[in-house]
Formats: sequence, structure tokens, C-alpha cells
Amino acid sequence: MSIEPTLPAPAEALSVPTVDMQASIGGVPVVSPVLTASGCSAFGQELDPFFDLTSIGAVVTKSVQLRPRSGRPTPRMAETPSGMLNSIGLQGPGIDGLLAEDLPWLAQRGVRAFVSIAGTRVEDFAELAARLRGVPGVLGLEVNISCPNVESRGEVFACDPVAAADVVAAVREVADPAQPVYAKLSPDVTDIVSVAAACAEAGANGLSMINTLLGLVIDPDTMRPVLGGVTGGLSGPAIRPVALRCVWQVHQALPNVPILGMGGIRSGLDALQFVLAGASAVSVGTAVFNDPSAPARIHAELADALGERGFGRLADAIGYAHRRPDPPAGRHSRGLQ
Ligand SMILES: Cc1cc2nc3c(=O)[nH]c(=O)nc-3n(C[C@H](O)[C@H](O)[C@H](O)COP(=O)(O)O)c2cc1C
Repeated sequence: MSIEPTLPAPAEALSVPTVDMQASIGGVPVVSPVLTASGCSAFGQELDPFFDLTSIGAVVTKSVQLRPRSGRPTPRMAETPSGMLNSIGLQGPGIDGLLAEDLPWLAQRGVRAFVSIAGTRVEDFAELAARLRGVPGVLGLEVNISCPNVESRGEVFACDPVAAADVVAAVREVADPAQPVYAKLSPDVTDIVSVAAACAEAGANGLSMINTLLGLVIDPDTMRPVLGGVTGGLSGPAIRPVALRCVWQVHQALPNVPILGMGGIRSGLDALQFVLAGASAVSVGTAVFNDPSAPARIHAELADALGERGFGRLADAIGYAHRRPDPPAGRHSRGLQ
């Protein structure tokens, strides 16, 4: 006797649960919780042939400074196990070039820009925020505080809660009130929660985390550092557990502060981990170097992953991993379900 398995009707088998993927960046609604990550796709033009840029939450631009910069010496990239090291530096057109060319290009296509700003003095950041007030298509500002503070012996702003808060307060004061301001945090600190709390108190509408970790590769043949800049920023899947830990700790301490999570996200299941840890949106960086359509693919995969786990809305999954564990099965439990 053969027992035929009961298969669902074809329509039923193919039906993918519809998940409400509506997300927001600091209260501003966006069509997708997936954004690009600063510095990994310039100003969006390079990704345009691969997917519809209006289908993601926003393009996060390469960090822009007041003046054009040529970046650090070559070589600027080195492969590492499950990651890469870069020492691009803040190469870019400066704010004039961004306002004249890159932002109009994005705005004409209806693509939203989350503009990353960088500087070496608090006033640089404030001036950049002022120049971006009311610019069409600018969703908000991501403040890259992983820069050396020239007024404090080159100490990185993001490594000191007071310096980080000074930058955020100055930016929030002059920025367009309609543009949310996110502080981008560095993992290279002992206590990321204290920096996060200082930024939130200074007026940050959200936190982006994490930036790259400082690393080094030495070529055993030349017996010299591989990168022209000696040290570089480590990114890619190798840093994902560190990034997730940061998101987890900050969400636990500051559950009402929106988090844009990033660090080694390559798939919808990777993005799901960040959402469960407390991120309300995610950025995709290094993954676009080998799959330029990764942001769109990861949006679709995340929607499927949420639906498969019974979520009807992305919003319901944010921070879900922090909930209390289910009670052990017994008299007072809801029993085996
Ligand atoms: C080549 C490269 C350039 C980057 N440039 C910037 C930058 O200009 N500003 C910034 O805030 N982060 C920059 N980052 C960091 C990324 O935005 C992101 O925080 C980090 O790479 C972790 O994400 P990922 O593993 O998905 O790349 C850069 C990363 C890479 C790999």
C-alpha cells in the first residue's frame, strides 16, 4: 500500500505571505527598510543599471566633506578572511560637487538620498548640515563621526561621548527640521552604549551602526603593510557578530531610539538578525561589490523570511529577539503548539 503525501493545491503552495515592509528613518516613511551603506556605492549612479533605486529606502552617500578630497595612498583595498580592509579615506567631490551634480541626479529619478557628512571640526559638520537644508530628495543626514578631531589631537569623535555629542548637537541645531539626523557609531570603543546615549541626548533622531573596525594586513613576501595607508577599515561578514552585538546592546539600553543596522549583511536572513536585535532598517555595504543588486534582493529575501516566521509587518519583528524566553512546557505554559 502506498501512502500519497497530501500536497497543497498549486496556488496555495506558491502563495507567499504578504508582509508590510513599510519602514521609517527617524519618523520619515520609506518604502523599504533596506538602504545602501555609505562609501560602498558612491552616490548611487553605479548601482542604477542593476536595480530600481526607488525600490529601496534610500541611497546613503559616500561621506562628503566641505572640500573635494583625493583620499589616501594606494593600495587601498586588501582581502581578509570573510571580509575586506579598505583605506579609501574620504575621497569625494566636496559639498559643492554633491549639490551641483550627484544630489540633482538622484532627485530627478525620485531616489532618496541619506547624505553622509564628515569633518574634522565640529563647525565643519554644522556647515555641511546648513548647506543641505531644504535640498530636494534629501531624506536626512548620517553623521560620520569616525573622523579625527583636529582640535583634540586627532582623537576620533566617535570614541568620546562628549565629542560625539558636540557634533550631533551642532548638526541638529542647524539641520533642516524635516531631515532626521543619525549618528554613525564606531565599534572601536569599550562602551558603545555610552556613546549612543550621549548622541541620543544631544538630539540624534537615530543611530547608524556599525562603521568599520580598524585592522591591518601585512604581506609576508614584502614584509610590509599591504595598504598604502597602513591600517584600514574591516568590513563584510567577518564583522557581522560584532555589529549585531552593538545593535543588541544599544537597543536594549535605548529601545526607543531607531537603529540603522549594518555590518556584513549579505542576505535576507542576515538582515533579519539585525531586525530581531533591534534595527528598524539596515544598510548593505560590502556585499554590493560582488552582487550590485544585493539591496533589492535582500529586501525581497527579508520579506520572505518575515512571512515564513508568521510576521505580517516588519514593525512587529523589530527587537523580537529581546522578548522573554517562553516558559518551560508545564501546567502554566500554553502547552505544545
Ligand atoms: C570601501 C568602503 C568605503 C566606506 N566609506 C565610508 C564612508 O565614506 N563613510 C562611512 O560612514 N562609512 C564608510 N564605510 C563603512 C560602511 O558604510 C559600513 O559601515 C561598513 O562597511 C559595514 O558594513 P558592510 O560590512 O555591509 O560593508 C565604507 C566601507 C567600505 C567597505
